[in-house]
Formats: sequence, C-alpha cells, structure tokens
Amino acid sequence: MESRGNWGSRVGFILAAAGSAIGLGNIWRFPYLTGKNGGALFVLIYVGCVLVLGLPVMLAELALGRATGKNPVGAFRAIRPGTKWHYTGYLGVVAAVMILSFYSVVAGWTLGYCYKTLSGSFRLVGKSEVAVIFSRFIASPWLQLLLLALFIFLTIFIVSKGVSAGLEKFSMVLMPALFLILILLMIYSLTLPGAERGLAFYLKPDFTEINGRVFLEAMGQAFFSLSLGMGTMLTYGSYLSKKEKLVSSAAWVAFLDTSVALLAGFIIFPALFSQNMAPDQGPGLVFAILPVIFGKIPGGVIFGAFFFILLALAALTSTISLLEVPVAFLIDEKKWPRRRASWLIGGLSLLFGIPSALSGGGVKFFSRLPLFHVDFLSLWDKVWGNIALSIGSLLIAFFVAYVWKTAKALEEITAGGARFRLARLWVISIKYICPLLILVVLISQFF
Ligand code: PHE
Repeated sequence: MESRGNWGSRVGFILAAAGSAIGLGNIWRFPYLTGKNGGALFVLIYVGCVLVLGLPVMLAELALGRATGKNPVGAFRAIRPGTKWHYTGYLGVVAAVMILSFYSVVAGWTLGYCYKTLSGSFRLVGKSEVAVIFSRFIASPWLQLLLLALFIFLTIFIVSKGVSAGLEKFSMVLMPALFLILILLMIYSLTLPGAERGLAFYLKPDFTEINGRVFLEAMGQAFFSLSLGMGTMLTYGSYLSKKEKLVSSAAWVAFLDTSVALLAGFIIFPALFSQNMAPDQGPGLVFAILPVIFGKIPGGVIFGAFFFILLALAALTSTISLLEVPVAFLIDEKKWPRRRASWLIGGLSLLFGIPSALSGGGVKFFSRLPLFHVDFLSLWDKVWGNIALSIGSLLIAFFVAYVWKTAKALEEITAGGARFRLARLWVISIKYICPLLILVVLISQFF
C-alpha cells in the first residue's frame, strides 16, 4: 500500500494551502465578479464573508481532515460510519472534477496570453484591438482544446508525483514572485490618469445596489477563493501533523488569499477606468485590460509575459489541489496507485472541460433549441464554482456543529496545547451563523 505522504514543514503547508487558495479565483474571478456586481459593495460583502463564513469553515475543514487523516469521503465515513454523510464527500469529489474542467480552460488562456505577449501581439495596440484578439482567441476551437489539454497534463504530471515533493517545492518560489509583480503593477496602475474614478468604483460602496445576487456571488466567491466547500482544505489538513497550529495556519492562508485578490482589484479598476472601459464585461475582463497595460509600459513585453507565466503557475498550484481531492479519495478508499488515479481523474476533467473550451463562440451548444444557448464556461462557473461549494460549505458546517460536535472539533484544533482565543466566536459561527446565512442566501435566489 502506498503511504499517504506528509508535509515537510509548517511553512511548506501554509504555502501549499495558500497556493491552492491563490489562483485564478483571485486575479481572474474576483475582479470580474466585482465589476459585474457594482464594485465596492461587492468587495465589502466579500471581505465580510471571508471573515464570518470562510475562516470558520476553513478551520472546520482542516480539523476534520487532520482528525481523521482521510480524504473527504473517508473523513465523513470515519466519524459517522453507516450514515449518508459521506455523500458530502462525494459532492466534493464531483465538484473537484467539474471545477478542474472549466478552471483549466481559463488557465489555458493564461498560457496562450503568455505566448501572445512574448510574440509582441499587444505592442502598441489599443483596447479595441485587444478585444478583437481576445474574441478571436477564445473562438478558436483547436487552440482552446490544445491549451486545455496542456494545462490538465501539467497538473496530472505533478499530482502523480505525490504530496510533499510535488506540491510543496512548487509554492515556495512562486508566491513571493507573484506578490512582487502584483505590487509593481498596482503602483503603475494607480498612477494612470483617471485612476481615481476606478478607485471610487472599487472602494466607495453604493448601498442602493444591494440585492440577493450580490450576496450569493460574494459568498460563493469567498468559498471559491479560499478553496472551501469541497474538501480541498480537508484533504490538505489530512497531511498535516498534530504539532501544527490550525488556527494560525488558517488565518495566514485567508490573509494571503484576500490580500492578493484585493491587490488584483487595485490593478484592474484604476486601469479600466483610465481607459474608459466598462467594468461589467464578464469572464473576459482581465484579458481585456491587462494586455492594454502591458502594451503601454516600457518593457511591457517581458513584464507581461512574466506576469502571465506567474499567473499560469498560480493557477497550476490551484488545479493541483483540485485534482488532489478525487485522487486522495481513490488512493484511500479504492486503494488505487497514485499514478493511475491522477491520470483517470485528469482525463475525466479534460473530457468535461471540452464544452467550456468550445463555449467561446467557435461552437454553440444546443443552439437549435430555443432557450438553450449555453455558455458552459459561465454556467459551470456558477453551478460548481458557486452553488456546489456553498452547499458543500453548508453541509460541512452543519456536520461539524451538530454531528461531530464542536467540542470534538475544538479538541482537534487545540491539540498539543495550541491556543484558540476566539474559540467561542468560532462555535457561534459554525453552529448558527454559517448554516443559517448560507441557507438564507441560497434560498433567497428563488425569490
Ligand atoms: N481557490 C482557487 C482559486 O482561487 C480555486 C479552487 C477552488 C481550488 C476550490 C481548489 C478548490 O483560484
């Protein structure tokens, strides 16, 4: 039997978990959702959701994972054998495969854009040319499929090599470099003429815009960005030793993740407004504005290419963690070798990714049926990236609060004498706030 593997060090774990959390969710999804949902108000609700829902659920997942030392399905089974609770784990496994499928399409875009930037496609071009380049790019079916396949193969390659060696080394170098480049871009963006209007959009909430959809999208984005609700953090926690402090690890991961997202906003919105571009362009937003910036700054070719490479790598540390969930499940529960599990699940995601890769206009699905012009990328993003993770987080919170019980979870969180000063607050959140709030936000969508 293959050993499950373990993290080499505490910093290694935090970096790998942050590597999972930080990715396209921060730099692609957060700005596009902020733009679509009216700006500052969304940002405010998002940060609130990270603190009130995200952090507590992250602790719950880490505790569940470390206490059981298992994958999501095995963890629920270990605590409540013979019940249906392990279906929560299955939901996570399925969500992982589906999120990996469309996430890798966007990750493929970053690879394509790295090449385009390097080859000078964006030199001295304006916003309208950049827009044309993007729509042609996503409408090329073969190129999209090729990039999707390339990205999934990269992910499979790393995951099949195992936990510590594969994941940890990777995050060590990547995160600091990404942070640095984002800060440089932010400084540039903030000095553009008209940047203030972008800042106002990003930071001055307009409370008249408040509605149920803004709440759902902000909440879903909090879970998505922190990699919660499908057992990623549970699985990563299962590789964690009892010596590590869960509370400070979770706090670090949430802090780093939120900082990167907020930083991305400080780059995108000032630049957008300085170019008089609309913030509500949907999933293409970041790919419409960043090349415009790179086309203007001196050395933009190298700088831009470097940015897209780092973004691709940040996406890779996230896809690794997505693939790790179903793979850990097959290794633990079905006794599969890691390599076979990685290839099978990766292959499935590739298959399910095809409709998303083709949704950029090259091929229309069900276009003959009225009402069925499906843009799979956006649809999957909503169904799996938002709804499934919210339901998953709801179930995890409920399970930890009422089935496993908070006392048991607290025992795990404070194992080895670790301190947890906000323990009572956490209990209140996981017992009442998380289940109720998530439920209300989900149900309110029907009205
Ligand atoms: N958190 C990742 C990101 O922001 C995406 C992700 C979601 C990864 C769920 C794992 C699980 O890019």
